[in-house]
Amino acid sequence: SQRTLVLLKPDAVRRGLIGEIIGRIERKAGWTITALELRTLDRATLETHYAEHKGRPFYEPLLEFMTSGPSVALTVEGERVIEGLRTLSGPTDPIAAAPGSIRGDFGTIVRENLIHASDSEESAERELKIFFPGRD
Ligand code: GTP
Ligand code: MG
Repeated sequence: SQRTLVLLKPDAVRRGLIGEIIGRIERKAGWTITALELRTLDRATLETHYAEHKGRPFYEPLLEFMTSGPSVALTVEGERVIEGLRTLSGPTDPIAAAPGSIRGDFGTIVRENLIHASDSEESAERELKIFFPGRD
């Protein structure tokens, strides 16, 4: 089975949506949360995480937002969990996301789109090391 890195972004925590979002993940058959931590992410961690976006116009505002309050970082294991969590999240732009998805149900703003989930096996491996170093 697979493992993926999920972040509940500061907007999700501020709006009291931790339980709602984690509940949806927990209810998927055969998926297990294997690590979970509430923490305010620091800039260095996010620069590594979002390195591919450095130089884009949304990069600085994104880091500003992502350091604006606590996030929840979690690892989820299970069958096709990488693809599954992208589907559960919906597309980056919440207005384009279908109702029933997390972004589609709760989001309106591209930057404040509630959740991050690794987009491939390579990303998952890279990101798990960033947010949960020393675990395997
Ligand atoms: P993540 O799961 O957070 O990585 O989102 P994603 O994979 O759906 O999007 P991507 O990796 O392309 O962008 C990372 C994050 O940057 C997004 O989740 C948004 O919060 C933000 N972002 C991406 N594109 C834009 C944009 O065009 N405008 C703004 N304001 N924010 C953007
Ligand atoms: Mg991404």
